[in-house]
Amino acid sequence: MTPDLEPLAIDKHTQFLGREIGRLSYGCWRFPGTPQSDIARKIDAAIEIGANLIDTAAVYGRGEAETMLGALIGERPSLRDDIVLVTKGGITPPVPYNSAKAHLVESCDASLERLKCDRIDVFLVHRPDYLTGHAEVADALDTLVKSGKARAVGVSNYTLEQTRALQHFLDVPLVATQPEISALRIDTLFDGTLDHAHAAQLLPMAWSPLAGGSLVTGKDPKGAGDRFNNLISALDRVAAENDATRDCVALAWLMAHPAGIVPIVGTQSPERIRAAAGAFEIKMNRRDWYDILEASLGERMP
Ligand SMILES: NC(=O)c1ccc[n+]([C@@H]2O[C@H](COP(=O)([O-])OP(=O)(O)OC[C@H]3O[C@@H](n4cnc5c(N)ncnc54)[C@H](OP(=O)(O)O)[C@@H]3O)[C@@H](O)[C@H]2O)c1
Repeated sequence: MTPDLEPLAIDKHTQFLGREIGRLSYGCWRFPGTPQSDIARKIDAAIEIGANLIDTAAVYGRGEAETMLGALIGERPSLRDDIVLVTKGGITPPVPYNSAKAHLVESCDASLERLKCDRIDVFLVHRPDYLTGHAEVADALDTLVKSGKARAVGVSNYTLEQTRALQHFLDVPLVATQPEISALRIDTLFDGTLDHAHAAQLLPMAWSPLAGGSLVTGKDPKGAGDRFNNLISALDRVAAENDATRDCVALAWLMAHPAGIVPIVGTQSPERIRAAAGAFEIKMNRRDWYDILEASLGERMP
């Protein structure tokens, strides 16, 4: 087999904060509105496929998602050590953002209370707040780490330059970045976000890795037209060759990138969470990977 046709390697695990985590993670954004009695089945399904990093945020359901996860941690305290717990602060609807030091510290305190634990593993600034300087955000994050409320800190929806500016003022290293990344949303491959994450050893977590479900339903989310249809066809071709589903191909495509992208699985179905592990079985070669990229770009690579 020529090297170009060899399957790209996709590791099932990676090292993060001194422990092993799965290359897939699980997110709680869509918990609100679902029964509390289903939460254990979702988290157990995630852990079963190795997705032991669990992502949530203060703003999800205005605290409800954290409360739902916290109820499970309260019932089953051993769960806290089984997971790497990530939450976020700084979105304050309808303001919309506030990353002032007092607000981030209070937000973390409220998250800890809802999550029924005394420490977050990674506290992320949810979105850049254009009215709080990087020095003040850094002071807030350093304070959270020094007080032991957060083991480590990171950013979400930050540009490369915003991430660098924040790091400049921080005593502790940022450990994670969480942008939107999917086969449909590919900006981070080109704008330096993933290159910086790789070089600075930030874990790149991909939110909405199936473009909020549109890569599964095949329904064009934003009128991308031919570009979207061609992307679906490219994903379907690789899926057919692997006897797999399109969503597994879309997750595998992210995980094959050398920055070590960790997609955050968002489905509320325990069966579909388990099925996401099929992504590790996908045999995708360089040509397949670039076919998907070129379909998403709407043009051939130069
Ligand atoms: N940092 C941020 O600003 C930010 C923003 C958004 C999200 N996030 C994080 O990213 C996580 C994932 O986002 P997301 O929920 O938009 O992810 P996604 O995987 O792109 O989309 C999940 C949606 O796809 C649907 N879906 C249908 N069939 C599916 C299948 N076979 N497999 C998987 N999903 C299927 C799900 O519906 P069913 O439930 O019916 O399967 C759900 O509505 C969130 O939980 C949150 O932790 C972060």
